[in-house]
Amino acid sequence: MPMPTDHRPGTTPDAEPAAPLEPAPVVPLISVRDLSVEYRVSRTNSWLMAVADVNLDVHEGEFLTVLGSSGCGKTTVMNTIAGLVQPTEGEVLIDGRRVTGPGPDRAVVFQDYALLPWRTVVDNIRFGLEMQPGRRRADWRAQVADAIRLVGLDGFEDSYPRELSGGMQQRVGLARALVAEPRILLMDEPLGAVDALTREVMRAELERVITATGKTVVFITHSIDEAIVLGDRVAVFGAHPGRVLEILPVDLPRPRSEQGVMAQPGFVELRDHLWGVLQGDARSASRGVAGS
Ligand SMILES: Nc1ncnc2c1ncn2[C@@H]1O[C@H](COP(=O)(O)OP(=O)(O)OP(=O)(O)O)[C@@H](O)[C@H]1O
Ligand SMILES: [Mg+2]
Repeated sequence: MPMPTDHRPGTTPDAEPAAPLEPAPVVPLISVRDLSVEYRVSRTNSWLMAVADVNLDVHEGEFLTVLGSSGCGKTTVMNTIAGLVQPTEGEVLIDGRRVTGPGPDRAVVFQDYALLPWRTVVDNIRFGLEMQPGRRRADWRAQVADAIRLVGLDGFEDSYPRELSGGMQQRVGLARALVAEPRILLMDEPLGAVDALTREVMRAELERVITATGKTVVFITHSIDEAIVLGDRVAVFGAHPGRVLEILPVDLPRPRSEQGVMAQPGFVELRDHLWGVLQGDARSASRGVAGS
């Protein structure tokens, strides 16, 4: 029978004390690794390289904004994180596990709203809850009502998408994603069709809700100001093929009430820098086209 010992197996009692353990490396919540996506273009019977060699980490609770010109692959990368598009090369990991399809940990606000035309506003938003298997449904009315209030659609509960403006449809899409309370929110220009005033109110509200709930967000925008106001970091994409040009931290205090933050020297400096990066990419793209 083995005798009890006062030391762990494999060590000796008079061995040197073990060195202090290194802190475990922090695993990013989202990790996009060496991602390339090619689409088949049936019209020309060829392949189009939409994004090439994208590497991107997003940490738990982080708000990452993605900025870039039209067609540079922002939606493609987001859809790959959502599990709706499969990588041609590379992979996406969530919490260290490879993404193979959509899951309840991720909700998407689509660029083209993607509402169900035969459902009312309430039922479209409720769809966000229906996509969460195993969730308690008893209090869905209260949850949907909260989401409607948040996006300012009170009074339109029973309207159909065809009866709403583009900006209102976009807000239904936003409410549908928020009501699902996912760990990760993937937002593809969620305020693109909203008027300037509503946009400002919703930005502030989004920042408040998201910082209060600690959600992890990937937020696509064409607006440099929006990228800075909302982001903890800004990933700038370039085109032909789509790729990450730079990832910049936004070291500005929160909450960032828009007027206040835009006057800060740090904001102006960052905006000028981002302009420069985007213009440089546009110039090299036009040289590429002219030279081809
Ligand atoms: N399903 C598809 N089939 C073929 N090509 C596609 C498909 N989806 C996107 N593309 C092409 O891939 C490239 C990147 O498209 P993507 O929609 O990711 O760009 P984006 O950065 O989101 O643009 P925007 O800012 O205009 O929304 C474009 O050249 C587009 O034409
Ligand atoms: Mg897009």
